[in-house]
Amino acid sequence: MKLKVITSNPGKVAEYAKSFADLGIGMEHYRLPYDEVQTSDLEEVVSKGMDEIERKGVRDYIIDDSGLFVDALKGFPGVWSAYAQKTIGNPGILKLMEGVGDRGAEFRCCIGCDISGQRIIVTGVCRGYITDSERGDGGFGFDPIFTPDGGRTFAEIPIEEKNGMSHRGNAVKLLIEEMKKRNLVRAHQ
Ligand code: IMP
Repeated sequence: MKLKVITSNPGKVAEYAKSFADLGIGMEHYRLPYDEVQTSDLEEVVSKGMDEIERKGVRDYIIDDSGLFVDALKGFPGVWSAYAQKTIGNPGILKLMEGVGDRGAEFRCCIGCDISGQRIIVTGVCRGYITDSERGDGGFGFDPIFTPDGGRTFAEIPIEEKNGMSHRGNAVKLLIEEMKKRNLVRAHQ
């Protein structure tokens, strides 16, 4: 069994390949542009994306969408995370948070999977805090300004450890649980 990972980011294909190898599911990189609808809800972005992909006749695939939701900014940048990262960047988020006492935030990752004619949508969350300054050289995106526990930032935590607690790692765990519950994994081994 193979699933297409529909993304422009080859790094995601490698991450999924690692997570699903033990279940006998292979991953292949598949480039197919689809519209990301304007909505404040990650799950809606994913489910509308899946409608479009299926209209194009593609089946057995995975897509995902993630973002950073800051409590004091009422969930911003959320579904606009990629745009915020490109424009104001981490210094811009820190500026918006200057003098703000409530530093709570969460990363969310929504995965949509079509497998054997069934649709599964799951969301993994990782709660934490926005730091006062950027710290660490690892990771990408908002990693230098996000700490899961008030200690090291994601950019200071080794990738294997980050994957064990991250929004994407948690979403993958939920997806695998749901596949097992529906007997989709065993059926393909
Ligand atoms: P995407 O939907 O997974 O491409 O993520 C949207 C944006 O959220 C990206 O451009 C990143 O800036 C940010 N992002 C997503 N996941 C992470 C993460 O694990 N660490 C840091 N930033 C992330």
